[in-house]
Amino acid sequence: MITEAGLNHTFGIPGALIFEQDAGGLLFARMATAAGTASLSLQGGHLLSWQSSACAEPVLWMSKQARFAVGKSIRGGVPVCWPWFGPHATDPSLPAHGFARIAQWSVTDSDVNAQGEVSITLALQHDLAHETVWPHSANLSLTVTLGESLRMQLETRNSGMTPFVLGEALHTYFNISDIEAVAVHGLEGGEYWDTVGGVEKKRQAGPIQFSAETDRVYINSDAATVIEDPGYARRIHIAKRGSLATVVWNPWTDKANRMGDLGQPDGWRQMLCVESANAWDNKITLAPGAVHTLDVAYRVETI
Ligand code: BG6
Repeated sequence: MITEAGLNHTFGIPGALIFEQDAGGLLFARMATAAGTASLSLQGGHLLSWQSSACAEPVLWMSKQARFAVGKSIRGGVPVCWPWFGPHATDPSLPAHGFARIAQWSVTDSDVNAQGEVSITLALQHDLAHETVWPHSANLSLTVTLGESLRMQLETRNSGMTPFVLGEALHTYFNISDIEAVAVHGLEGGEYWDTVGGVEKKRQAGPIQFSAETDRVYINSDAATVIEDPGYARRIHIAKRGSLATVVWNPWTDKANRMGDLGQPDGWRQMLCVESANAWDNKITLAPGAVHTLDVAYRVETI
């Protein structure tokens, strides 16, 4: 059995990485460096928070109504969507965005490098023999590295004998001053699927701005994006490799009310998801023995 004491003994790093367990039994890793702090839930391999010392406001958004309970997904931070993105293709009773975000991950490594960056690696093994939900074998690992920037590397290895199709995303909820005041740059001219009120392919003109529910999958581009937030006097830079889709989502009022865990009355105003993904046109086919890495680095620039 994995315990807080055992994790601290094997992977804890004094002053940089400690493990804690809450009253409900969930285990968390808390990371700290001179450049910031971050916390991670071992359930879901779910990054919960990132506070950069460069700015006052947290970089990631967490709902005030987020539930922290065994088997429940957490509203905010960075859920790991894997091995499918969105609803399951054929069985709507299966969990949206796959099962990794509610599975129990194990810790396999921790480190502090010469630059003072602290990192932790978690793993999730999915064995075909014990699983009917997704009949494939894969080793999944997530490395989170905290320094002046924050880097997340999600590696999938096909450990089975047959190819499989993979959908995935680092479903990052950013903390913003006001959805109506921010803009997303970097996807100008790109094609996307607009999924609000039907599905339609469109082309982006200019930066993305928000005045209604927005749920889009930008495809065929690994372009870096920037969230410009004058209210918090900062830009959040998102650079990625191994991801050709970018999901941009804000539920706005009605969907937020229906969801019920966004934080009333207007938690949705302070959040924006810009998700580095392989989804829709850009799912990945992974041959036996092959490895794919989704590698994203987030950086905050004050303005
Ligand atoms: C986004 C999707 O990635 O996730 C939205 O584009 C969805 O359509 C949202 O509503 C939240 O999903 P969930 O499963 O966390 O409620």
